Amino acid sequence: MKIKLSNGKTLPLEMHKIKIVQPTCLPPLRRRLRAIEEAGYNTFLLRSQDVFLDMLTDSGTNAMSDNQLAAMMTADDAYAGSESFFRLAEAVREVLGFRYVLPVHQGRAAEHLIVKALVKPGDVVLMNYHFTTTKAHVDLAGGKVVEVFGDEALETASSCPFKGNLDLERFDLAVHEYGTERIAFVRMEATTNLIGGQPFSLENLRQVKARAAALGIPLVFDGSLISENAYFIQQREPDLAGATLQEVLRVMMSQVDLFYMSGRKSAAARGGLIATNDRALYERILPWLPVYEGFSTYGGMSTKEIEAMAVGLREMVDPAVASSGADFVEHFVARLEEAGVPVVTPAGGLACHVDARRFLLHVPQSAYPAGALAAAFYIASGVRGMERGTLSTDPDPSGADVLADMELLRLAVPRRTYTLSHIEYAVDRLAWLFAHRELIGGLRFVEQPPVLRFFFGRLAPDGDWGAELARAFAADFGEDC
Ligand code: F0G
Repeated sequence: MKIKLSNGKTLPLEMHKIKIVQPTCLPPLRRRLRAIEEAGYNTFLLRSQDVFLDMLTDSGTNAMSDNQLAAMMTADDAYAGSESFFRLAEAVREVLGFRYVLPVHQGRAAEHLIVKALVKPGDVVLMNYHFTTTKAHVDLAGGKVVEVFGDEALETASSCPFKGNLDLERFDLAVHEYGTERIAFVRMEATTNLIGGQPFSLENLRQVKARAAALGIPLVFDGSLISENAYFIQQREPDLAGATLQEVLRVMMSQVDLFYMSGRKSAAARGGLIATNDRALYERILPWLPVYEGFSTYGGMSTKEIEAMAVGLREMVDPAVASSGADFVEHFVARLEEAGVPVVTPAGGLACHVDARRFLLHVPQSAYPAGALAAAFYIASGVRGMERGTLSTDPDPSGADVLADMELLRLAVPRRTYTLSHIEYAVDRLAWLFAHRELIGGLRFVEQPPVLRFFFGRLAPDGDWGAELARAFAADFGEDC
């Protein structure tokens, strides 16, 4: 929740107090350098004990509420017919308005089942933007992802409030090019993860639905960050002013044929679900649930997490909860802009995104500037971010790199986990790094896995820039800072 200060600025206020804490430590510089070397310059391969602030992701790392923890104690452990499932289904019905619910162990499991049921070889899936796991499932099914976003989506410095909008003209062109019968579905991702957590507007969602419905194409909605997208709609779409988040959400959902989400983000639990009011769609997916996930009343989740997700769904429409991550991200972005660090604007959901291309003008895309920046930032701060760029884009079938639309260092802000002093620390170290950016070089693969290579790939720096950067840092702050 933002409040106005007497100097005219705004401040994101934490609308909670801390009851349980986990100690963290800031490893000394020499350990940070060793740790990133051991991790093959890939922040995914760092151990938690070597990380001070874990901004890798907001997935499964959000602070839970007292009510979520309390609900976990009432979990009903039954293989079939668990009461915990019926409490989840009730929460989905109340908050999202869907009658049929399929629990899954996390978001990508939902993608797997949806793609299995709806995509056949040669099919096309239209999207406002792809996500790594979604694209992998469509590719593995022999389908093709076609992104239909507007020009503004890729402008990192922008004031466009809805860069996640699906471009309607390009939608029409894609329909013309591929033909309606080849289009399995159109997917709207609530705050486009890979291009800076940018939302789409309710108006755009309505327009997409109208076009898709006229052609008989189902609208699939990835709601992993649904409360943030609803919050941005409430804040940025003038005719929605005055509507509650719950109201915004229900209007959004009225446009949706098939909904899925990772429950690890907006819902602050560890699981996922698929939901719909379309019985035929539900029945196409249901048979596959016990094959890949688990029986239909647990879907691979622990019943404790099912309980936590039910409460998390209800809590995410509370404005204090829905805004908790987004307002911190906005502050983070604003402070970095003040320091002259190139960031994605406007601020989006889930993370502050640093534009590695503008940060490291001297590192070509083929040398993974965003990956290099993630490693360099870890050395300078002990903060772990995530590369979202060419490294996170799998090569084409010939093995050649596919250059990503953007090179971003994503600094995720898990909801209610960190405090403003943590954000200030990250801002300070990033500003220092920007002043020493010429010390940072590129990366090259040493080991490259065949799919989603960013998870386990190992890299090496071009030259010895990690050690040089550490020396510059030690000269300014001393070894142990
Ligand atoms: N869709 C979106 C928009 C996501 O952000 C994610 C996960 C998924 C689907 C897959 O869900 O992880 O529960 O299987 N995003 C995480 C991230 C991994 O770090 O951004 P999952």
